[in-house]
Amino acid sequence: MEAILLVGGRGTRLRPLTINTPKPMLPVAGVPFTAHQLAQAHDAGVDRVILGTSYRAEVFEQYFGAGERLGLDLVYRTEDEPLGTGGGIRHAAQALRSGPEDPVLVFNGDVLSGLDIPALLQAHEDTDADVSLYLTRVADPRAFGLVPTSDDGAVIEFREKPTTPEEIVTDQINAGCYVFKRRVIDEIPTGRPVSVERETFPGLLERGRRLTGFVDDGYWLDLGTPLSFVQGSADLVLGEVRSSAVPGPPGERLLLADARVADSAVVGGGTVVGARSTVGADAVLNASVIMDGVEIGPGATITGSVIATGAVIGAGATLTGCVVAEGARVGVDNELIDGARVWPEVSIPDHAIRFSSDR
Ligand code: GDD
Ligand code: MG
Repeated sequence: MEAILLVGGRGTRLRPLTINTPKPMLPVAGVPFTAHQLAQAHDAGVDRVILGTSYRAEVFEQYFGAGERLGLDLVYRTEDEPLGTGGGIRHAAQALRSGPEDPVLVFNGDVLSGLDIPALLQAHEDTDADVSLYLTRVADPRAFGLVPTSDDGAVIEFREKPTTPEEIVTDQINAGCYVFKRRVIDEIPTGRPVSVERETFPGLLERGRRLTGFVDDGYWLDLGTPLSFVQGSADLVLGEVRSSAVPGPPGERLLLADARVADSAVVGGGTVVGARSTVGADAVLNASVIMDGVEIGPGATITGSVIATGAVIGAGATLTGCVVAEGARVGVDNELIDGARVWPEVSIPDHAIRFSSDR
């Protein structure tokens, strides 16, 4: 069984974390996010994966190599200029070995889910579909691809990122995993950008091809924003969603190699403390991602935040819903809240920023 994993996006919404690291390689529950997706594919019987890369392509191969550690045969297909989701699938497909009628799995590289992959493959076979799409239901579908289906599961329409209220015809969205008949991928044009959501799927429907929607209401999260990124990591650590790639049993926290946490510190809510990082006395860490070699001072309080490699957080600092990039320093007693992003190597002096509710 072969799969294509799309990991060529720029991850703009996760800047500055994605300046040097492509989004799918950011650490989630202790390992690059892509490791969870590859493990999930492997566990479902996939043995060969083509990674469709573009932005910062080399980072993937440096980490995963030919896939031996994962028990997978990994192949890299790099687009010089990003070809979009459809173009990326088509470009990656040149490395496939599957026959024309064989099912090929395709994954977006930023979706964390509890999808029952074998059940999706079974639905694909049962309905003899050209393409089968994993769908989920969300409260606010505006940021996604809307996919209404008829009672028998046939896809009626594909509406990517609707802009007007009238366009919101369903709460069912494209959950970012498909099964294609290989010959259908070969119909995607080459040599130019193609959006699978805006061009390929609507085009197939127009030509009367059979698209099946497979609704799975289990765990689903798009890790596109810092908030969802920390949420996904915490949920994996807590065991709310399972991945065989998490380097430890489910629990309140995950401490990586040589992490040092003071006895009086409280670390919970699915927080990861990265390799060689230190957490000072009485610090309180909740639902956060602390990457490697980070120093957190005594009495600091960090909630729902990402602290990247080599950053230093001063004593008594309070960070809520923040991103602190590589090598940055937040001085003592600063208070940073919702959405604050500290750029790499920036240094915030001690006692420099306080939040006031008195606006
Ligand atoms: N190889 C390659 N080349 N990959 C790409 C390219 C490209 O040019 N552009 C995007 N990708 C990859 C991204 O890395 C990501 O893994 C995936 O394709 C989807 O791109 P996003 O940029 O994350 O799209 P989105 O989240 O706005 O929307 C997509 O995902 C939603 C579900 O999470 C769409 O497929 C929506 O329809 C869907 O609902
Ligand atoms: Mg996305």
